[in-house]
Amino acid sequence: MSETVQPLPIAEPRSGLKVLRGLARDRSLLTALSLMRTYVGPVFQITMPRFRPAVFVGPDANRQILVTARDQFSWRNESDPVVRLLRRGMLVVDGEEHDHYRDVMDPPLQRRNVLPHIPAFWRYTDNVIDTWADGSTQDMLVEMRKLALLILMGTTFHVDFAPDMERLWQPILHLIEYISPGLWIVWPDAPSKASHRRAIAAMDDYLYAIIRARRAQLEQQGVAPDPTDLLENLIATPGMTDDLIRDQLLTMLIAGHDTSTALLAWVLYLLGMHPATMRQVQAEVDAVVGTQDEPPTAEQVNELHFLDQVIKETLRLYPPIHIGNRRVPQDSEICGYRVPEGTRVMYSIYLSHRDKDHWRDPDAFCPARFERGQEEKVPPFTYVPFGGGPRNCIGAAFAQVEARTVLARMLQRFHFELLDGDKIHPHMGATLEPRPGVRMRVARRFAP
Ligand code: HEM
Repeated sequence: MSETVQPLPIAEPRSGLKVLRGLARDRSLLTALSLMRTYVGPVFQITMPRFRPAVFVGPDANRQILVTARDQFSWRNESDPVVRLLRRGMLVVDGEEHDHYRDVMDPPLQRRNVLPHIPAFWRYTDNVIDTWADGSTQDMLVEMRKLALLILMGTTFHVDFAPDMERLWQPILHLIEYISPGLWIVWPDAPSKASHRRAIAAMDDYLYAIIRARRAQLEQQGVAPDPTDLLENLIATPGMTDDLIRDQLLTMLIAGHDTSTALLAWVLYLLGMHPATMRQVQAEVDAVVGTQDEPPTAEQVNELHFLDQVIKETLRLYPPIHIGNRRVPQDSEICGYRVPEGTRVMYSIYLSHRDKDHWRDPDAFCPARFERGQEEKVPPFTYVPFGGGPRNCIGAAFAQVEARTVLARMLQRFHFELLDGDKIHPHMGATLEPRPGVRMRVARRFAP
């Protein structure tokens, strides 16, 4: 370790007080983190009893944590609920074990294998929006969760989730609550709630039944597994027990739907807050896909440039995964700071995306930042909605094609008017969620 290495900065008593006041006022950890960034700087340590993570903000730290010094970190924080829930899911294991699962699950999620899902994304969107009465009010946080679940289960596992939606709705919300920031942060051994245990049991029953049924079906029919089906890929991989497959399925289910839910809900919120932008997106959708009922081609989806800018700007302002968690298994030096063995390290995507050192007017919604050929110039690794390096988001292509297709269909068929937009705030759950929800009045654009 070099001699110039500094201890991790902490808040001076006066700044600490301001942070605490902000926390009490907004009751939001996001406010506390933003104030720490303002008063302490782009690197700081939180000093709560039993919770002393080092938080890093900005491109240099992101690059080190995600790429150049990635081998110094482990993902697995043993006592975190997400580790207890996902057990040996690829999101929470390290080293060769992680790389093995990633190799198995990567091919079905590559862009060329995702594009053929466009018709399914389109039809699942219809399944949800067909239930909306003209002029009714819908909570987009709820509706987008339904849609994201149908899409994820239907396209990656070829399982129809519709018949189980109602029964598993509460268990899924409980699982998300279980892994969200909570008492466990300062009390890692806190006994788990009965509602969480019941939710895990319900999801396990469901997932193990799916795995057994598919194994039996493949054996009976003696057919080769479909390589574009994640579940069949896992079943066909030697050494993958039902337990290990359950861990990967649950990982994909949680990581793959809660994020898309948040992204879609935030896009609709921002469009609701900026009606002129909504009209511009709608005009683009009309020009590219018109009133056609048939799903768009991959080329058409690709041509939705302005919608893409809106999605990217939404991911900047409200990144569903707003923070990445690591641990240093040995004393380390990160960006010139000493990080003692065992420290939890966090890289804040949210704060990097709103850092005034790198972005013009960082809190403003401005899709033009991402206009092709005219992009706002920020250093690489300043914008990291899907992380980076070898552990970047495996579902990034899936999420982007899904978002464009779903939003195109929704905007093609409905007008949206946001209600109570001023009451909506970001909530730091498992993802960054618009709370208390995104209520919108929906009006059909064309006769069905
Ligand atoms: C808007 C949607 C999404 C966003 C913003 C997002 C964001 C991210 C980010 C930031 C990471 C890296 C976390 C870290 O460095 O600690 C990540 C990892 C991951 N994501 Fe996503 N994600 C999205 C959708 C999806 C989808 C659709 C899937 C699955 C189909 C998925 C599965 C995963 C998995 C399994 C990992 C762990 C990868 C690894 O450790 O190798 N995500 N995601």
